[in-house]
Amino acid sequence: MKLRPKEPPSSELTPEKLYLRRREWLKQAGLFVGASAVWGGSLVALMNRGAADPPDVEVPVGPDPLAGRARAEPPADFDTDEPRTPFEKVTTHNNYYELGLRKTDPARHAGSLRTRPWTLEVGGELARPRRLDLDEVLGWFALEERVYRMRCVEAWSMVIPWLGFPLGALVKRLEPTSRARYVELTTLMDPEQLPGQRDDVLPWPYVEALRMDEAMHPLTLLAVGLYGRALPGQNGAPLRLVVPWKYGFKGVKSIVRLRLVEEWPRTTWNEAAPDEYGFYANVNPAVDHPRWSQASERRIGESGRRPTLPFIGYAEHVAGLYADLDLRRHF
Ligand code: MTE
Repeated sequence: MKLRPKEPPSSELTPEKLYLRRREWLKQAGLFVGASAVWGGSLVALMNRGAADPPDVEVPVGPDPLAGRARAEPPADFDTDEPRTPFEKVTTHNNYYELGLRKTDPARHAGSLRTRPWTLEVGGELARPRRLDLDEVLGWFALEERVYRMRCVEAWSMVIPWLGFPLGALVKRLEPTSRARYVELTTLMDPEQLPGQRDDVLPWPYVEALRMDEAMHPLTLLAVGLYGRALPGQNGAPLRLVVPWKYGFKGVKSIVRLRLVEEWPRTTWNEAAPDEYGFYANVNPAVDHPRWSQASERRIGESGRRPTLPFIGYAEHVAGLYADLDLRRHF
């Protein structure tokens, strides 16, 4: 059967029926403006699959802060043997609104992000709230390579060899109290380094969160690298979340704060457009986005489309986490 997906327009993540305030800014950014979003009385976030991107972005490769770090064997049944998306695609087709709205903007502008030294503040319901140097944290864990599928809510996907350590290992080490029910992770807030934060396209800083059992699941990774070396800025250096069975927007980048909390945390896309971006954001071909089908996806670097699998193929590992939930309602 030929799949005939209903393609989303070029402004994708954003809700309909909303009006645009920063038209000039978006025009400068070269974006096609169709639907747009109002958040808190202001504008807008656009996803922009249709925007014409100059193809000549180069990804500088400098000294690798992960060189010499211990490596560990990942659990064998987590890796996919599907062809990996080429490095050039993984690092030039990005969503990182703080570094621009077009897909190649983050690669172009990532030079403004300073990733060492890097402090991770840990707090909330844990034994000892404190500020940790990222390199100290990296000394606690051996790095594992995990080859995961990643699917964006915009219906494109990639296969990426990440380098990182399980979020659960860090949470355990921080000794949660019995009141900890969610893990909340927050991106750096610094408009000097992340100039997109000067524009209120989203409620900054970018925040994401997981239920504690999701955070402790062995598939859930804190990534510090890809393709065997440190993450480029555009991919969320120096520390980003990877939850392969969820839409990519759960994968908060450039994390500076981890909090264990009792109350359900507010998360960025859910706050901006709750009808379109659920808290769970589990990849689910049976639940369409209000404006496009989620039944199939475009694998970056390939032609045509492929059907999207429930939890993008990780159902055997994670479906049990949601046995009690109606996934149509809790999308
Ligand atoms: N994190 C921050 N801080 N800002 C963002 O705009 N975009 C999200 C997620 N994390 C985003 C973010 C979205 S929509 C996706 S699909 C993934 O990052 C993309 O990750 P990649 O650029 O490494 O492919």
